[in-house]
Amino acid sequence: MSALLEMRAITKTFPGVKALDNVNLTVKEGEIHALVGENGAGKSTLMKVLSGVYPAGSYDGEIHYDGALAQFGGIADSEKRGIIIIHQELALVPLLSIAENIFLGNEQAASGIINWRETFLRTEDLLKKVGLSEAPTTLIDSIGVGKQQLVEIAKALSKDVRLLILDEPTAALSESDSQALLDLMLELKAQGVTSIIISHKLNEVRRVADTVTVIRDGGTVSTMDARTEDITEDRIVRDMVGRDMAHRYPARTRRAGDMLMQVSDWNVWHPEHQDRQMIRDVNLDVRAGEVVGIAGLMGAGRTELAMSVFGRAYGRNISGEVRMHGKPADVSTIDRAIAAGLAYVTEDRKSLGLILEETIQRNITLANLRDVSAHGVINEAEESKVAETYRGAMNIRTPSVFQKVMNLSGGNQQKVVLSKWLFAGPEVLILDEPTRGIDVGAKFEIYNIINDLSAQGKGVIMISSEMPELLGMCDRIYVMNEGALVGELTAEEASQERIMSLIVTE
Ligand SMILES: Nc1ncnc2c1ncn2[C@@H]1O[C@H](COP(=O)(O)OP(=O)(O)OP(=O)(O)O)[C@@H](O)[C@H]1O
Ligand SMILES: [Mg+2]
Repeated sequence: MSALLEMRAITKTFPGVKALDNVNLTVKEGEIHALVGENGAGKSTLMKVLSGVYPAGSYDGEIHYDGALAQFGGIADSEKRGIIIIHQELALVPLLSIAENIFLGNEQAASGIINWRETFLRTEDLLKKVGLSEAPTTLIDSIGVGKQQLVEIAKALSKDVRLLILDEPTAALSESDSQALLDLMLELKAQGVTSIIISHKLNEVRRVADTVTVIRDGGTVSTMDARTEDITEDRIVRDMVGRDMAHRYPARTRRAGDMLMQVSDWNVWHPEHQDRQMIRDVNLDVRAGEVVGIAGLMGAGRTELAMSVFGRAYGRNISGEVRMHGKPADVSTIDRAIAAGLAYVTEDRKSLGLILEETIQRNITLANLRDVSAHGVINEAEESKVAETYRGAMNIRTPSVFQKVMNLSGGNQQKVVLSKWLFAGPEVLILDEPTRGIDVGAKFEIYNIINDLSAQGKGVIMISSEMPELLGMCDRIYVMNEGALVGELTAEEASQERIMSLIVTE
């Protein structure tokens, strides 16, 4: 197989950061090439250089594509050559239909008039290719992230793709949606499409990749060929983090203390569809020092449960009681929930967790400005000190805490969200997919932080779609399905099989 793409000695600097330092990447025609590395290693930046988001002239080094030097002035240039990138953060327009999104900027029109018949027919055809049966007129807003991701691929296919770049396509997907997406990648490969996939899920990488390139600190560390050698997860991890990682989960000492939080008879209805009950008669509790998991499939209602408890941030006609230390607690607004000792770390860092245009520093102190203020005035020196502490503890990769959050890599943004809620000093921390998009090394750091919190007597509720993570970290696991708790397992009783069987038999 010959090389379709050769990126040679690519160097890219941002003010204060050398994001890429002489990176080399060779991708052969027709293969699936995985690009892996820690948060902030430079993966997304490298793909933005390739696709012209960062145009020729804004980086050093050379891109050779299809046998010739390529100098893309923008995304349109690379698209013309069949290079299509699907970014880490989806870019669909929520209130437009699937068809409108697919042909946005590439309208099926003659003399300025859109041919809707043609648009719909082509959309149907493309949707079939990616395994979706939705109508082309369906609003993007009304389908789940898994399907949105497939629509992005359908959109890519509408443009004669030759090299498809997927930046963490399965980060927000359920197990079954992820499988569907990976199957589609393999199918496209059979049709001759070359792909580059960025992922922190190393089992997925092993499943689809023909070649794996590891980058660390902006440089290429290794390239492995699955056709000639056995690429184990351990080996990838070693190259990623620069050392052996014997365990993925730190050891935990169990210590369930006094009752900390109790939620009883919790019922929640859908905010718009008043006849749809989203949460049914939920009863759960957390003791001091306990890490309690909530397992369930995507759409089981875990996020809705957490958000409705945290200041009624979700739902209508909410009924039920929350007790802290045995006494009824007022959690009717987010401010009151925080005052009652709760914190909720959201899975959706873009819309709920962070102010992207603000500095790292301000984002960290945002939920607890009181502790860095005197007489209503923020003490910025104090604020910086706090931010620096978390930057060190969480290993947030950034030249300075004055950096805007939008300039951080995805995983480092997630660490800022977590820092913010740790600084709020809660008694019970609800973590909703806390390690989504986070590399293996940083995951371990976050697990250590969770263990520290529980050692201090705090309660942690952990919602995660990664069952191994729940099994590795939790003292007790509730299983949720269709808005109700359908089972509860101790750490000893819990296994992936038992959790799944509780979900399917209910
Ligand atoms: N526009 C920007 N301005 C300043 N720094 C940036 C910008 N974009 C990226 N960086 C920095 O460049 C480095 C590489 O970031 P990049 O987004 O490529 O990482 P990544 O490997 O994709 O990480 P993740 O797995 O977390 O998504 C990081 O230190 C990041 O903070
Ligand atoms: Mg990235």
